[in-house]
Parts: sequence; C-alpha cells; structure tokens
Amino acid sequence: MASELNIHICIDVLSADELTQQEREAMSLAQQAANDAYAPYSNFLVGAALVLEDNSMFKGNNQENAAYPSGLCAERTALFALSANHPNKKIKLIAVTARRRSEQHFLPAMPCGACRQVMAEYEYKQGEPILVLLQGPEDKFYRLRSVADLLPFQFTKEHL
Ligand code: THU
Repeated sequence: MASELNIHICIDVLSADELTQQEREAMSLAQQAANDAYAPYSNFLVGAALVLEDNSMFKGNNQENAAYPSGLCAERTALFALSANHPNKKIKLIAVTARRRSEQHFLPAMPCGACRQVMAEYEYKQGEPILVLLQGPEDKFYRLRSVADLLPFQFTKEHL
C-alpha cells in the first residue's frame, strides 16, 4: 500500500493585543513601509519589516516599474537590502502587510512564491528560524514559526 506523508503546519491566529510589543511595532513599521510603496501601476501597497537579532528593524516596500517584470515585491526589497547592507545580521521575524491605495484599512498579506523562496534562502543561511507575521483577515494576524511553514518541500543549497 502506498504510504502518505502528512505535513503539519501550525499558524497562530492572533488579535493585536495578543501580539508581543515588538511584533506590534514590526507590523506598524510594515504598515508605514506600505504607505511609502512605489506602486503606481497596481496601486497595491505592500510593506515588509524585519526584526533583527539585535532587535533593530529594517523595512522595505514594493517597487514597481513601467517595464512590469522589473519591479520587485516588498519582502524581497527588504531582504535584499538588508543582506546587501548588513550581510551577517540574523533575522528574527518578518512582518508583511498590504493595502489598496484607495482604502485606509490593511488587507491580508500572503507572500508570493518567489518571496517565500527568498525568505527560505536566508532562513537556511542563518540556520535559525525566521518567524513570519502576516496581516490576516478581520483584524487578525497570522504568525508562523518558520518560513518552512510557508514553503514546505523547499529547494535549498542542499539540493544542488
Ligand atoms: N507584491 C508584493 O510586494 N509582495 C507579494 O508577496 C505579492 C505582491 C506586490 C508586487 C506588485 O507591486 C503588487 O504587489 C501587485 O502584485
């Protein structure tokens, strides 16, 4: 009989007052970053904030381009800029949020596949899990304990 492999993914569903103070600050920084996104084509504003091992924070937002594929998502903008400027700082958490330019409220933010792959690269590199905090529906937040929970069966350096 064929065997099956089951993957268990745990997502904490939390209200704002159930987040730690630092998580609330990270989400607030991600929201500020979203407000500054350069997204004149989609008008979909995405912000990402990273909490580093020394508890400092670093942010990024989506950067669009008239040549559409030349743009970049918020998560990768933040991660690449961090890695370029502080190549050895470990990341404790990434917070992601989004909103439409025409509306003030923030929307559930689900990182695209390419951003999950990039997050997985840095998690593998640092050898310690990166928590993922996502704006969820209805004023809730989703907290995942590792990028591996966002991207099971990931392709890493080990597979080369
Ligand atoms: N976007 C992000 O910044 N992050 C994601 O994970 C998904 C999509 C951006 C890319 C583009 O500027 C806009 O959202 C619409 O797709």
